Order: sequence, then C-alpha cells, then structure tokens
Amino acid sequence: MRILVTGGAGFIGSQFVRAALLGELPSGPGTRVTVLDNLTYSGNRANLAPVADHEGYTFVQADIRDAAAVDEVMPGHDAVVHFAAESHVDRSISDASPFVTTNVLGTQVLLDAALRHKVGRFAHVSTDEVYGSITEGSWTEEWPLAPNSPYSASKAASDLMVLAYHRTHGMDVTVTRCSNNYGRYHFPEKMIPLFVTNLLDGRKVPLYGDGGNVRDWLHVSDHCRGIDLVLHRGRAGEVYNIGGGTEMTNRELTERLLAACGAGWDRVEHVTDRKGHDLRYSLSIDKIREELGYEPLTGFDEGLADTVAWYRDNRQWWEPLKEKAELHA
Ligand SMILES: NC(=O)c1ccc[n+]([C@@H]2O[C@H](COP(=O)([O-])OP(=O)(O)OC[C@H]3O[C@@H](n4cnc5c(N)ncnc54)[C@H](O)[C@@H]3O)[C@@H](O)[C@H]2O)c1
Repeated sequence: MRILVTGGAGFIGSQFVRAALLGELPSGPGTRVTVLDNLTYSGNRANLAPVADHEGYTFVQADIRDAAAVDEVMPGHDAVVHFAAESHVDRSISDASPFVTTNVLGTQVLLDAALRHKVGRFAHVSTDEVYGSITEGSWTEEWPLAPNSPYSASKAASDLMVLAYHRTHGMDVTVTRCSNNYGRYHFPEKMIPLFVTNLLDGRKVPLYGDGGNVRDWLHVSDHCRGIDLVLHRGRAGEVYNIGGGTEMTNRELTERLLAACGAGWDRVEHVTDRKGHDLRYSLSIDKIREELGYEPLTGFDEGLADTVAWYRDNRQWWEPLKEKAELHA
C-alpha cells in the first residue's frame, strides 16, 4: 500500500511514518509513504531522520492549500492519512486565520484531489476538542459538535467537510478523534514537552489558572496504532474516537512532571487562565474497542518516563526548537 501522509514531519505524523515504515503498526510491514508537508514552525525533517534512507519513503515539501502542488503529488496513492494542521490552541486565540486556511481550506483541497484521482481511502485525523467540554461522563461518536476555540472550530469544520464528501460523492473516508497525545518529538510549546524542557533547563513552568482542567493523556504510539486500525479496517463514512489513556488534572500532571525531573512546587508559576479554557475532555472508546479490538498498550508511568528520558538525552533536537517557538509565540 502506498500512503500519502500530510503533516508527516510533525509530532504525530512523524510517529505514524516511522512506525509504518519500520513495520511497527498493526498492519505490519510493506507500507510505502509519501510525506507531504510545508514545514511550518512545528514541522521538522529531523523527526523523520530514523527513516530518511528507507526505500519506501519520499518527502515532498508543499502546502496542502496549494491545489496545483497537491494535484501533482496525489496520483498513485492508495490512501491519504491527513495529519497536516495548525495544532496549537493558544496560537489560534492570537491569530485564527492560518487555522481556517490550513485546517478547513487545506482539507477541502486534499479531498478534491483525492476524489479526482480516485484514491481508495481518506483517513482524516481529528481531535476530541471538537466535542467541547464535558463535566460528567464521556463522549461517544454521536455527540453533537460544540467546539470552543478557533482551533477546535476549524477541526470540527474539517471533520464535517470530510463526512460531507462521503455523503455527497460516496468517497471512502474515516474520521478519528483522539485525546491529548504525549511522547518523543513533541514540539516544545505543548504542555508536557514545554514543562519537561523548562525543568531540565532549571526554569519555571507556567500553569494555567488553578490547574483543575482535566485531560486524557494517550501515548502517541497508541494513537498511531488506532489510526492504522481504522485506516485498514474501519467502516467508510464512520467516526472513531481514540483515547483510553489516563485522565488527570493539569495540576496532577504538573506534580508528576516535577517528580520525574526531581523538582519541587516552587518551580510552578501560576499564570492567567487560557481564554475559553475547556474544563474537561473525556472520550468513550467502546466503538473502536468493539469493532477493531483497539486497546492502548503504553501505561502513563512507563510512557512518561520514556518521554522525560528522551528529552534529557536529546537536547540537540529541542534546544533550537525552543528558540523558534519563542520567536513565533
Ligand atoms: N497533539 C495532540 O495531542 C493531538 C490530539 C488529537 C488530534 N491531533 C491532530 O493530529 C494532527 C497532528 O497534530 P500534531 O500534534 O502532530 O501537530 P504538529 O503541529 O506537530 O504537526 C503539524 C504538521 O503539519 C504541517 N503543516 C501545517 N500546515 C501545513 C500546510 N498548510 N501544508 C502542509 N503541511 C502543513 C506542519 O509543518 C507539521 O509538520 C492534527 O491534525 C491535530 O489536530 C493532535
């Protein structure tokens, strides 16, 4: 199978590409991958260094909003796995426009090209944030969409566009909605890598509000296993939630990160809460578990220890990115 992976130089996309080429996904070896990525501040070819010489790997630097470039790359692929997006909520609060152009318009450009070139399957990667915030219980896939940030609103729009191409054109699409990911190669502006790299540098960590917001943390390798299952065995036109990690408040997470880095609560700086900050996310994963036999494999303690050790050993990867993140903040 030859897959076009958009956003394959980012955090999750690069995990998917490395695992696909190294035969570590449930579908096994034999996948060939073209990465389509325009290398924004969060895209980084170093994330793909472990597979750079793999014979099944091709890299194309192009923007998903560029219809001519997308049309040139699309032919010959059996499937698209669509990760490319502007992904940081805080940035969407200061400037929503690249979120709308990349996440909504870019998705439509890809859908049109995939339709034109009769690509077998379009697997769209989305987020649990499209459901909004939930005080009790967990979201199923039928839950109404009620996004609160410009980021999640743009992702909800892209989900609806993908599902509309299924209903209107009969395109073979799937949508996956995942909870918060963590792991290696995570750009150091997101909470876990930001806190770990600050702590390793002897700096303070900024905790929003009272730290009471609840998130479900899933190891990035489990997210990619779920995407692979849906790509190969999910039903066309269906949405699948991917989660089943560990739910905890940001305060509890901060305590774990401080302990993992040997630091105390004096290193925490309470900062003004994010505007419109969703209180709690929680996903039901009954559908993917029952239909596709999905279960997360990496426990949070094990995954966090591996992540912290990786950041400790890979300063040459994150130090230049930290400067880039601060320049673009
Ligand atoms: N990070 C999470 O916890 C999480 C959870 C659920 C879903 N998601 C979704 O997973 C996907 C990947 O997220 P991530 O955390 O890896 O993001 P990321 O910011 O690390 O990577 C995004 C990638 O997309 C590329 N890109 C951005 N705009 C582009 C454009 N116009 N054309 C071509 N390439 C472009 C970037 O260069 C980068 O390589 C996103 O769609 C996101 O909404 C993320």
